[in-house]
Amino acid sequence: MAAEPVPVCPDPSWFVHDRFGLFIHWGLYALPARHEWVRNYERISNEDYQKYFDHFDPDLYDPNVWAAAAARAGMKYFVVTTKHHDGFCLWDSQQTDYKATRTPYGRDLLAPMVQAFREQGLRTGLYHSLIDWHHPEFVIDHIHPQRDDKAFREAQAGRDQSKYAAYLHAQVRELLTNYGDVDIMWFDFSYPGPDGKGGDDWQAEGLLRMVRQLAPNIIVNNRTTIDQDLWTPEQFQPREWVTEGGQKVMWEACQTLNGSWGYHRDNTNWKSVDLLIRMLVDSVSKGGNLLLNIGPNARGEMQPEALAILSGIGEWMRLHNRSIYGCGQSDYTAPEDCRFTQNGNRLYLHSFAWPFNAIHIEGELADRIEYCQFLHDGSEIHHVVGDPHAKRHNGPDKVVTLKLPIARPRVSVPVIEIFLKD
Ligand code: GLC
Repeated sequence: MAAEPVPVCPDPSWFVHDRFGLFIHWGLYALPARHEWVRNYERISNEDYQKYFDHFDPDLYDPNVWAAAAARAGMKYFVVTTKHHDGFCLWDSQQTDYKATRTPYGRDLLAPMVQAFREQGLRTGLYHSLIDWHHPEFVIDHIHPQRDDKAFREAQAGRDQSKYAAYLHAQVRELLTNYGDVDIMWFDFSYPGPDGKGGDDWQAEGLLRMVRQLAPNIIVNNRTTIDQDLWTPEQFQPREWVTEGGQKVMWEACQTLNGSWGYHRDNTNWKSVDLLIRMLVDSVSKGGNLLLNIGPNARGEMQPEALAILSGIGEWMRLHNRSIYGCGQSDYTAPEDCRFTQNGNRLYLHSFAWPFNAIHIEGELADRIEYCQFLHDGSEIHHVVGDPHAKRHNGPDKVVTLKLPIARPRVSVPVIEIFLKD
């Protein structure tokens, strides 16, 4: 008899409602400050990476500052790297000494973080790396930092991946037992193939069953190779609602501020506030969420650029969050350079490129519009059925014209709130 499939989250409605979260990539790689994959990129051995552990002392770490910045930006949940691929643990795991409490800093970083974000009303997500380049039983493969070191590979040929899987499971059990209610478990990642790793290497089915048993309502992503609740397109915006086997699935785009997840000192490729807001809107207009990443530095602070971006987004969210929270994809097709989001009888038109003095909406909206206004100031926007400058009014292709001021409102993305008749 076939085993029961691994259960999924019975009610992820809070996640679909909230739409916007903060991703935090933080660990030893904040010290080299040149990408969280630095060990892989530069083939750094355990011994050579040890200096970052020995000097890890984020003396300015204050998660209340991070949580307040996220809340002001309008974010409703956060997802933090409990452990990234380098294997370093932010919490006081009983399974290893490779953890914050054994560094000069000497304290658990996760407990105060979770508390600070909860106090600000954000839900908790834990990113946990399936990959572990530090663990002595993690079988060396083609992305391991020491893959090219023949002598090392030979000396380590006897590694037993199942022992690593036991460690992985024990750590996830700790995380889901000792830090209160965890809302999201974000595993990363699988790369099946002859010299890669996938579900069997993580004993993924057993892992997920344990997660469900410890936290039945948790949302889990699908990077273990077993499909669960959440699809996570990374560093791109999908063209349309993400589907699996022809079915629409719950999805969340994860995006960086500058191309790196971990702190990267010399990378100044910052995305603008305007662009990031467009990316948030774009996700919601296609039925998805946005998880926006910050990489705090080695002293425990978010960079001034990152804080400024969060506050710029927050300024827009303060006036426009009605077009984000509780909204999703609209049945109507948005005009060129616009995105629609919709929440029941409220339709939100986001203008990505301000036109001259009119936006024409084609389709069946004409009979349904009751009233229109700018969202940022509540000022009326007149609408007329048809195109006043076209010969043919209201022909087979119906058009509604929104009459706009020539001057673009001084907000990152102007939004017109359209009240639809029942
Ligand atoms: C990747 C990378 C990584 C980052 C993550 C975020 O798979 O390995 O460094 O943590 O995706 O989505």
